[in-house]
Amino acid sequence: MSQPWSPTSWRSKPIQQQPQYPDAAKLASVEQTLAGYPPLVFAGEARELRRQFAEVTQGRAFLLQGGDCAESFAEFSAGKIRDTFKVLLQMAIVMTFAAGCPVVKVGRMAGQFAKPRSANDETLDGVTLPAYRGDIVNGINFDAASRVPDPERLLQAYHQSTASLNLLRAFAQGGFADLHEVHQWNLDFIANASLAEKYSALASRIDETLAFMRACGMDGSSQVRETSFFTAHEALLLNYEQAFVRTDSLTGRDYACSAHMLWIGDRTRQLDGAHVEFLRGVQNPIGVKVGPSMNSEELIRLIDILNPDNDPGRLNLIVRMGAGKVEEGLPRLIQTVQGEGRQVLWSCDPMHGNTIKASNGYKTRDFAQILAEVKQFFAVHQAEGSYAGGIHIEMTGQNVTECIGGSRPVTEAGLSDRYHTHCDPRMNADQSLELAFMIAETLKQVRR
Ligand code: PEP
Ligand code: CO
Repeated sequence: MSQPWSPTSWRSKPIQQQPQYPDAAKLASVEQTLAGYPPLVFAGEARELRRQFAEVTQGRAFLLQGGDCAESFAEFSAGKIRDTFKVLLQMAIVMTFAAGCPVVKVGRMAGQFAKPRSANDETLDGVTLPAYRGDIVNGINFDAASRVPDPERLLQAYHQSTASLNLLRAFAQGGFADLHEVHQWNLDFIANASLAEKYSALASRIDETLAFMRACGMDGSSQVRETSFFTAHEALLLNYEQAFVRTDSLTGRDYACSAHMLWIGDRTRQLDGAHVEFLRGVQNPIGVKVGPSMNSEELIRLIDILNPDNDPGRLNLIVRMGAGKVEEGLPRLIQTVQGEGRQVLWSCDPMHGNTIKASNGYKTRDFAQILAEVKQFFAVHQAEGSYAGGIHIEMTGQNVTECIGGSRPVTEAGLSDRYHTHCDPRMNADQSLELAFMIAETLKQVRR
């Protein structure tokens, strides 16, 4: 029998990665305010995503999850949201068309603000200050005042998330994602000629297909005119997450209504910890990052806690081992999951195991390593007779220079040109699209 769960039961468990708020009374008052605000998503939508996750788990669809490492208050604009959404649409259409496979689209957007850190403090020129934990907690500038955790930021994160989600819903359903617009999704700066050509050839084939459908009187359906798009973020700040737990009036079950999906980070997935406790009780589809330190026994115990009913739409294991470590670490985990008959959605985060420091000090990732990890992930699943169901990436529609490599290469020396991330280095549109074409090819073979 499992222990009783409540939206506050996490509070009696050991907890990692939380800010130290100096003003507890202010925090409590903000939590109360948030709890009275409208939720960002509706339980029925989270259930729909769970249904789509089950399709992926059973090998009938593919999951594309992407967005910023950390959203920021300063870089918040319609253009930025639109461009990230465009690249995700492009990636999805490349995979759908080439591989004949529906793609479930989930943004690391509209709530992805809080960051776990490897150290509590940061020292610069002999001065030590609390680490930056994301705009929802404190400011990124290296001065004492900015780094004090401020509960007011929870409110700002909520308001920014509602505005972002509002725009994403409008884009998904208001005509922007209409397949007839497939040429318009290309971003001007995709200057890589061969990539642009490849994409526009694919878009032209889609046009032809739509013209054919129109001729047959079949192109008016909502599947052509609209898309579904979901949001997700790391459930790190449990004070915030608790405020958005709502009991669904249709089912009487509790949902975390700050996003459709939430995941637990690699640093906060302790079996007896607060994050696992919180997420086990909400009915959303959820994810867990699986880093190189995960072993089979721990994984099964985690699955027992988070998906006791063995529901194929419930649990996404987001593997982030690092290129070169997948072949060593993943087969045993897959074998154990299969041996125990557990239904999980396996996806690959090829970002977080591949972060390096460039010689000029920039935190970066080599695009070749990102591609390598994705390839290894597919190969291991194929060898084990398991389904590689998705990818989880950090990317943006802005023309940034944060990850090195790609077919229009960003060099180490070029990193400083447009390095804007508030946390980890993201792929730009070129690199994201290139990854999508590679995955489309692989999916075509796997699904043949
Ligand atoms: C992240 O997804 O930004 C992150 C911190 O990942 P992980 O928990 O896998 O390190
Ligand atoms: Co990150």
